[in-house]
Amino acid sequence: MFALSFGVVLASLALVQAQGLASVDSPHLFKRIDSGCGTSGQTSCSNTTKQTDLCCFQSPGGLLLQTQFWDTNPSTGPSNSWTIHGLWPDNCDGTFQENCDSSRDYTNIASLLQNQGASDTLSFMQQFWVDINGQNEQFWEHEWATHGTCMSTLDTSCLPSGSPKGAEAVAFFQQVVALFKTLPTYDWLQQGGITPSSSKTYTLSQLTSALKSASGFTPALDCDGSNVNQISWYFHLKGSVFDGKFVAIDTPEKGSCPSSGIKYPPKSGSPTSTSGSTGPTGPPGSLPAKATISAVTSSGTVGGLLSAGKWSTQTPGTYSTSGSASSFTLTSSKGACGVSSGEFSCGSGSSSTFSAVSSGGNLLLAFSGSTEFSSSAKPIAGRSVLRSSAQDWGSHPYTSAREIAEQRAEQLPIDHKNQRGEISIMGNQTSATEAYEATWRCIKIAGPMDFGLTGVVCSFTTPLKAKGVPVFAVSTWNTDYVLVPKDRASDAVQALKADGWTFQAESA
Ligand SMILES: *[C@@H]1O[C@H](CO)[C@@H](O)[C@H](O)[C@H]1NC(C)=O
Ligand SMILES: *[C@@H]1O[C@H](CO)[C@@H](O)[C@H](O)[C@H]1NC(C)=O
Repeated sequence: MFALSFGVVLASLALVQAQGLASVDSPHLFKRIDSGCGTSGQTSCSNTTKQTDLCCFQSPGGLLLQTQFWDTNPSTGPSNSWTIHGLWPDNCDGTFQENCDSSRDYTNIASLLQNQGASDTLSFMQQFWVDINGQNEQFWEHEWATHGTCMSTLDTSCLPSGSPKGAEAVAFFQQVVALFKTLPTYDWLQQGGITPSSSKTYTLSQLTSALKSASGFTPALDCDGSNVNQISWYFHLKGSVFDGKFVAIDTPEKGSCPSSGIKYPPKSGSPTSTSGSTGPTGPPGSLPAKATISAVTSSGTVGGLLSAGKWSTQTPGTYSTSGSASSFTLTSSKGACGVSSGEFSCGSGSSSTFSAVSSGGNLLLAFSGSTEFSSSAKPIAGRSVLRSSAQDWGSHPYTSAREIAEQRAEQLPIDHKNQRGEISIMGNQTSATEAYEATWRCIKIAGPMDFGLTGVVCSFTTPLKAKGVPVFAVSTWNTDYVLVPKDRASDAVQALKADGWTFQAESA
């Protein structure tokens, strides 16, 4: 039995501030900078041809590290969250440049953010981007001057004319915060049963496998003696740091931790309610102006809401928010959204006031004091392709092929007793593995694949359709899978070979 809550996907979070405002008539409204680069160009450090527009292609520092601290002596930040160190542009070979433009060593970052409409980012930084000696302002200035000024896509020549001074630094801090929110290291370790302890020790592979299984990628861990104190999550970038797509990768190098005897000591201080999603007590953070809403369970994201408010694994609808994180309304292309008789829908005439609650890496939608929502729909309906825009930010809300197959095999019966906005969904999970293995054969499209390669699933399934083979397509972070019924597997292989596809055997 598990409960569901719908989290507002972070992808849109960073694209949020006062989107669509053409002019700045109030000191609080700032137009978000559009780099004009898009995200369909080549990926930094994996380009195949020389790139010349370095405003739209991060180079030479195209290997980006989102670094986080686990400070315990003295402790910084909430006891149940890692804190931000920075975002560093390493060269593709791991060497790096620093302090690239002293004419842009801005001071008073706090005012800069406040004056350019990024107070939400600032308040998040005051909690999660903190200096071990309490010198936050100096620490932020240092991170910008040392690393931010080396980002080619944040060069002042890349700014639209008329941009306020320091706008590229404001974007840097906003993007680092947005990316950090997609990388909840504490929660991911906790999901793998790894929590701070003053006595326990862990092996490096215990820590990295927990993080890899939760996130899909292996980070680098650094230690101070035997204490883990820093993590680096690695990315390549498509487009500009202003509004590009961070593409997660496995760490290309080992961190400094020993292979065993690693301690993960507890922090002193108090937790935030960033983990657990029971009550709307967390810091609200910034509210995205446009968001998709996906359903998250303890095992990850399992689908999203379409514009009518229906739960599905198709591409989620886009919702506009209006108001502040603590009180806002939602509208989709179908109209205003509301909860009526316990049912969430849009365009049906009801309009409700919601709030948003930070939880782990998610910003959860809360209604009437609860972040748990129910659905009377089957969790896996129709086409089971899960491709949420959260991937833009390097968070990994995919459901594994197996997981979807299991849910699909189960056709989870829903218990629709909807009281105080909460529902329990029950299904038999145990028999699912057998059902999956007995019923389906899986064809994996050789990946990792570029997200720009849309149409792959379509070109792959067309010959199968022609042959009358039913398919069940699943997209994950790395690639696509097509499940075909066991007894049609050889037909599928034949049809695909005839269509020019080649096959490689892969052990399960
Ligand atoms: C990728 O682009 C950068 C920047 O133009 C260039 O230095 C590098 O040689 C390119 N890589 C390849 C394989 O063309
Ligand atoms: C789940 O298990 C119960 C008890 O074994 C069984 O009666 C029920 O039919 C199962 N439901 C499904 C959907 O398999």
